[in-house]
Order: sequence, then structure tokens, then C-alpha cells
Amino acid sequence: MKSRQDEERRHDIVLWGATGFTGSLVAEYLLKRTDTEEVRLALGGRSRVKLEALRRRLADIDAAAARLPLIVADSHDRASLDDMARDTRVVCSTVGPYAMHGRELVAACVEAEADYCDLTGEVQFIRAMIDKHHAAAERSGARIVHSCGFDSIPSDLGTWMLQQAAVERHGAPLDRVTFVLGASRGGFSGGTVASLVNVVVEAGADPEIRRVLTDPYALNPEGERHGPDGPDLAGARFDRDLGCWTGPFFMASINTRVVRRSNAILGWPYGRDFRYAEVTGFGAGLKGRLTATAIAGGLGAFVGALSWSPTRSALQKLALPDPGDGPDRAAREAGFFKIRLHGRGTSSDGQPFEMVAHVAGNNDPGYGETAKMLGESALCLALDGAELEPQGGILTPASCMGVRLVDRLRTAGMRFEVP
Ligand SMILES: NC(=O)c1ccc[n+]([C@@H]2O[C@H](COP(=O)([O-])OP(=O)(O)OC[C@H]3O[C@@H](n4cnc5c(N)ncnc54)[C@H](OP(=O)(O)O)[C@@H]3O)[C@@H](O)[C@H]2O)c1
Repeated sequence: MKSRQDEERRHDIVLWGATGFTGSLVAEYLLKRTDTEEVRLALGGRSRVKLEALRRRLADIDAAAARLPLIVADSHDRASLDDMARDTRVVCSTVGPYAMHGRELVAACVEAEADYCDLTGEVQFIRAMIDKHHAAAERSGARIVHSCGFDSIPSDLGTWMLQQAAVERHGAPLDRVTFVLGASRGGFSGGTVASLVNVVVEAGADPEIRRVLTDPYALNPEGERHGPDGPDLAGARFDRDLGCWTGPFFMASINTRVVRRSNAILGWPYGRDFRYAEVTGFGAGLKGRLTATAIAGGLGAFVGALSWSPTRSALQKLALPDPGDGPDRAAREAGFFKIRLHGRGTSSDGQPFEMVAHVAGNNDPGYGETAKMLGESALCLALDGAELEPQGGILTPASCMGVRLVDRLRTAGMRFEVP
């Protein structure tokens, strides 16, 4: 359990990687949402010059930003990370690829008993952090919460909220939930592309990483890495329950693992035989079938092109954004997403039932809405921390923040609803 008093630490939240594309959006969000007299916010990065430029830009939006402390450290200089973590209650990190730049920071936070949240969608990185630090984080009380962006908050909190409603209304959780991405519009940043490429490269070089990436239960606790779910949907399929054609959802490979970890570390509130899948939904007719087939083929071709070094280099040079770049303000504001979670179960008196939940956001999912989701996660850890269960470990958004984060995101304008 934590031994150092919060007041001894100078910063409530350090935004680490504030100068990056997503980091600067989270900085703007936190500044808009908080009174910097109440929440002691600091900006962290590896370049003082860039941090000062960011602070000047933020001060044009809100004069209070001119007083934000700046912390210069480096992801590969452990002593600098230890200093930052010891002085901070919550480190909020947008420095990725996390498998390349995130390992030492998690270690520093666990040791310094600091809470931590990030945006990683890199399964192999999270698994390494679980193997290395979960037990120590449980002991120290450091709450390490990965995947607090579009992956995997809508999936993880959406399923958690739907299961809560199922138990309230029917006396039993749903046996099976399918996440269906409906209409959506959004872009990619260079950091996201770099992270995706790094996963593909690491998997190509290491069979153990390939094994972790293909294990549906890779993020479950040791001894609990089994269950009824198989591989994620890879092709086009007509789903009778949903009444439409479905194709793969490219973030299923991280989100499904996070949802299953939540179930495991919360003590199986969804049941040990719970089944969870993520798909993209299309129409019921020929157009739906053709689109699902085209999306499945396109995604397979994209991953194939990333796996082979000459096509990867060509794609990176010609078509994909560089680190630091991403969708501009107009594109972010034109973005949105709509997700439906469809569940089936059997009530406590033996009757079959179905339920649906909706999760939606009215900005680019990976950037506008992600800045909101990560910013609110950091605020939740900093401001609601004393009331959160459990107290420490490598956690998930639902297992750590549950209803408090759902309430915060609703207040921030996202839809989380079980009609
Ligand atoms: N889960 C989601 O929904 C979601 C959404 C968006 C982004 N992401 C993830 O967030 C990460 C960042 O993406 P992005 O597009 O914002 O990337 P980016 O613009 O390239 O920013 C990366 C940041 O990391 C910093 N950095 C790199 N090496 C460092 C080092 N050695 N020490 C300290 N800082 C270092 C960079 O500093 P400089 O500014 O000095 O270069 C920059 O601030 C990626 O892993 C991406 O996949 C996830």
C-alpha cells in the first residue's frame, strides 16, 4: 500500500509526452477541464525547447498555462524517470511506441508508488508489464492502467456497464457480448502507425511475441489464460444474431484481451464461460456482404504489406503520416464513432434475454475523443483515487475506474447508455 503522502509530491498529474501529436491534444483537454490551482498539472517531455513552445501556445488559449511546470526527462534515462515519478501522483503517458519507450517508466511508477495511465494498444508490451510488475504494483499500491483511449475504453467500460445493467435487470450477467462498430470516421497519427509497425516487426522477429499476440487470453493472469473464445474474426461473416454482415475490427486484437482481463481481475463477474467478440457491422444485403468482404481483404493486405520490409518502407514513405503528424482540427471535428454492444444471457429465473448498450463519441475517435478519454482517466486517478478499487496492480480501465470513469465521460459528452 502507498506509504508516501500525496501532499509530499509536487504534481498531481504529469502529462508525459506532452509535445507529441496526441500529447498536445491531451494538454489542451486537461487545461480546459481543470483549474490548475486545484489540480497541479505539469508538462513532461524530452525537449525543453519543445515544452516551452507548447506552454506558450497553451498560454494563448488559457493564460494560467504560462505557470505550468516543465519536466525534462528521457524514456531511456531511468534516473530522470525515477525523479519524475517520485514527485508525481499520476503520470499520464502518450510516449509511444510503448514497447520501445514505455518499459522503464512503468517500472519507475511501480517503484515510486505513483499511479499511471496510457494509450497503448500493444498487447506484447502490456503482457510484459503484467509479467514483470503486477505483483510489485499490487504490493506498492501503484495503479497502472494501460489502454485508456479509443482502445480500449469503449469496449471495456461499455461491456462493464452492460453487465452491471444485466445483473440489475435480470439477476444474471450476459453469457455473450458482441461489440459492433457502426458508422465512424477518423484518421491515424504517425505515432499510431509507428506503434503498429513496431508490433509487426517485433512479432516477425520473436515467435514468443507471435504466440502472445495470437492468444485470446494473453492478458489474463497466469493460470487463467484459457476460456471459450477463439481467434478474432478475420473474414466476412453473416451474423444471424445481429442480422447483418460483419467484418473484422482492426482493434479487436487489443480490446478483446482487455475486456477478458477485466473479467478475470474483477473476480469473474461476467462468468468464467463469458464470450466476447468485436466486429465491424455492415448491412444485411448484397452491399453489406461486398463491403464486409472488401474491408476484410483490405485489412489483410495492409497487415501483409506492413510485415514485409520493402512494402512497409514504401507505405511509410508514400502514404502514412510521420511521427508528430495526425488528422488536423477540421478532420478531428468531422470525426465520430457509434458502437453497439449486443448481449445474450439467461436470467436468474431461467429465461433467455437480450440487451444492447450504446457507446458513442462526436469527434475523431483516436484523437479528439481519445484526448478526452485519457484526460478523464488521469483526472479520475488523481481526484477519485481514494475511492477506487482495487488499490494496485496492472489494471484495466473497467477494473480500476468502473462507474467513476463512465460518469466522467458522460459529463464530458460521450454516450454510455443501456436503453
Ligand atoms: N489508444 C488509442 O486510441 C491511441 C490514440 C492515439 C495515440 N495512441 C498511441 O499514443 C502514442 C503516441 O502517438 P502520437 O501520434 O501522439 O505520437 P507522436 O506524435 O510521435 O508523439 C510521441 C511522443 O513521444 C516522445 N518521445 C519519443 N521518444 C522519447 C524519449 N526517448 N523520451 C521521451 N519522450 C520521447 C516524443 O517527443 P518529441 O515531441 O520530443 O519528439 C513525443 O512527445 C502511440 O503509441 C500511439 O499508438 C493511441
